[in-house]
Amino acid sequence: MTTVERPRIVGAGTDRVDGPLKVTGAAPYPNDVSLPGMAHAAVVRATIASGRITRLDTGTAESAPGVLAVLTHLNAPRLGSGPESLLRTPPPPLQDDRILSYGQYVAVVVADTPEQARAAARRVEVGYERAEPLLDLDDPRAERVADPWDSDASWGDVAAGLARADAVVDASYTTAENTNNPLGLFTTLAAWDGDALTVHDSTQWPVLVRATLARMFGVPEAGVRVLVPYVGGGFGAGLRVWPHVVLAAMAARRTRRPVRLELARPEMFTGIGHRPATAQRVRLGATRDGRLTAIEHESVSTLSIEGDNIEPCSSVSTTAYACPNVSTRDQQVRLNIPWTNSMRAPGEAQGNFALESAMDELSYMLGLDPLELRLRNYAEVHPRSGLPWSSKALRECYEVGADRFGWARRGAEPGSMREGDWLVGYGLAGVSYFWYQAPCRARATVRGDGTAYVRSAVTDIGTGTYTVMTQLSAELLGLEPGSVTFGLGDTGMPPGPQAGGSGLTAALGNAVHAACRALLRAFLDLAGADPASPLAGCGADDVTVTDGRIHRAGEPGRGESYTGILAAHGLEELSADGDSEPRRAEEAGMAPAGPFGARFVEVRVDPELGRLRVARVVSVIDGGLILNEKLARSQIIGGTVGGIGMAMFEETVTDPGTGRIANATLGDYLVPVNADVPDLDVTFVGVPDAYNPVGVKGVGEIGLVGMAAAIANAVFHATGRRIRSVPITIDDLL
Ligand code: MOS
Repeated sequence: MTTVERPRIVGAGTDRVDGPLKVTGAAPYPNDVSLPGMAHAAVVRATIASGRITRLDTGTAESAPGVLAVLTHLNAPRLGSGPESLLRTPPPPLQDDRILSYGQYVAVVVADTPEQARAAARRVEVGYERAEPLLDLDDPRAERVADPWDSDASWGDVAAGLARADAVVDASYTTAENTNNPLGLFTTLAAWDGDALTVHDSTQWPVLVRATLARMFGVPEAGVRVLVPYVGGGFGAGLRVWPHVVLAAMAARRTRRPVRLELARPEMFTGIGHRPATAQRVRLGATRDGRLTAIEHESVSTLSIEGDNIEPCSSVSTTAYACPNVSTRDQQVRLNIPWTNSMRAPGEAQGNFALESAMDELSYMLGLDPLELRLRNYAEVHPRSGLPWSSKALRECYEVGADRFGWARRGAEPGSMREGDWLVGYGLAGVSYFWYQAPCRARATVRGDGTAYVRSAVTDIGTGTYTVMTQLSAELLGLEPGSVTFGLGDTGMPPGPQAGGSGLTAALGNAVHAACRALLRAFLDLAGADPASPLAGCGADDVTVTDGRIHRAGEPGRGESYTGILAAHGLEELSADGDSEPRRAEEAGMAPAGPFGARFVEVRVDPELGRLRVARVVSVIDGGLILNEKLARSQIIGGTVGGIGMAMFEETVTDPGTGRIANATLGDYLVPVNADVPDLDVTFVGVPDAYNPVGVKGVGEIGLVGMAAAIANAVFHATGRRIRSVPITIDDLL
């Protein structure tokens, strides 16, 4: 039954099972769902960043055509708070007159059509008493808080390590705020039936949406159903239950109509979180021959007034290199800005930029090849615990990447490579991504017609969960993928975790593994009850399933089919649940490894015009067992484009006077377009990971990480100019 050891179906570049539905427009995203009698909501947002509401005039809006209700803090119901969670849920909206950030909701208008709702929303008049907003990361008046994940670490003696170093890098790096821009506009459609609530929502975590709405509205959780079979991208934006979700449910309850609330793009910039800005300081000490004697990494990132955020920037320095003296610390500064939140590779993206830039600086200081410096400090075991990694093929990532890229052709001196008027630069970065896995449950059913249905209340945010779990289920159940349906996105299914932290494929894959194994045992129990069965006395490890037929391992003639066993017992179907729980590292005797990667980048810089082009990217990734190479490659490619965005384009600009986001449209917020993205070469290396039975490591986020440093390092190699701040813009290069 542990067929993933010799996979037949997994690994193959199977097309997306939901591909035809998506390209024909038949896949229902949350904003595609309509219900009879549905009304529409539009939000009104604060135009100050700090202060109080002193006046609200909703009369004109209320009498506008089609308007059903206008809710403000003066007439909205008082709601409870959300549940305790990994990520704090924003408090319910419209509960008081305080304004903590520009764009905070101050009213919601419900009308028969979206146009009527938006038109009336513009006629809600709000008066404010302004306070001076805190908007600057360096503002000494702003409250500083410690990292909430307790991930600060220190071992050895950093001061002593720096004192005995032959070379010391001491450098500061900054990264800009970025905004998640999933193409799908976040939408909530809420419909009440008494105390029962059905919600279609753009979320990465349906189970959390259910728990949150139940608690806020004081209704039984069992009566709340959240549906999200498709979501148009997440990147972390769907990890929290945002105030607009609550507004939709509030509006539906008040108007006794189903209500759809679809955010407009500018509202996405203030309403669904964004990547914080960071200021980081890295100190590295090393001996003349390039052995690290100390790493100190400190980070300060932006935070909203009432929010929390997991942004473990400096943690990258606890896993990346073998070093006897390490100290890391993350702090966050409370500002009058919309909530900061996870955005693909939270913390890692910014922390890696600082660490891998500093390593590059050290390599030039020592006169060592940047690749050689990384190999000399290779962490053979987990640097802090000393435990062996559950898997690690980073060395192979470097070797294969250097070979595919042609790293050996690199001239050692900055500015030594040219092509015509362009300066050519080679840069690289290593990536040791964190490990994360949450508990998950799945249910597997084989039906009388020989087909299977496997499901869990998780989401597929475009990463390919439907497809890889169909493949894995088929593999484990001994069926063809065409006979297996995977279901998700419905809280009526067994509970699963968020699609986040690059942890879902492992968590869900292992739950599916457990469910399929439990189902096989259930079939064996049934068959074994008959002493004449060829399967009598067999345990799960004694059998194999081929084409829906369970037989003794190595004896295809001695067995029974799923359908035969069901028919013999008069059953229409048989189901079993399976759970996965992350193990503890100490008990497992190994350090759970996330994915590893190496990024090699060639840039061209036009020194006259300050133009920067990425010419080539070679990525080599250790993701453990790859369930579907085509989809995994797609994740790395998408992440790489995001990394080019972070390095060269993306910056959420806050007006320093008002706190308004000045570029909250896709016309003004720059992202890479096709012309900015060269051919991206992606290779996978490594072996199935030993920490979990399926052997996968998540690859949803690592594709973004390392690009900022690799590009900045290549810019240094091309020009001799060290850029310590992203995005890198033309004026940095003139
Ligand atoms: Mo990811 S930022 O954990 O959705």
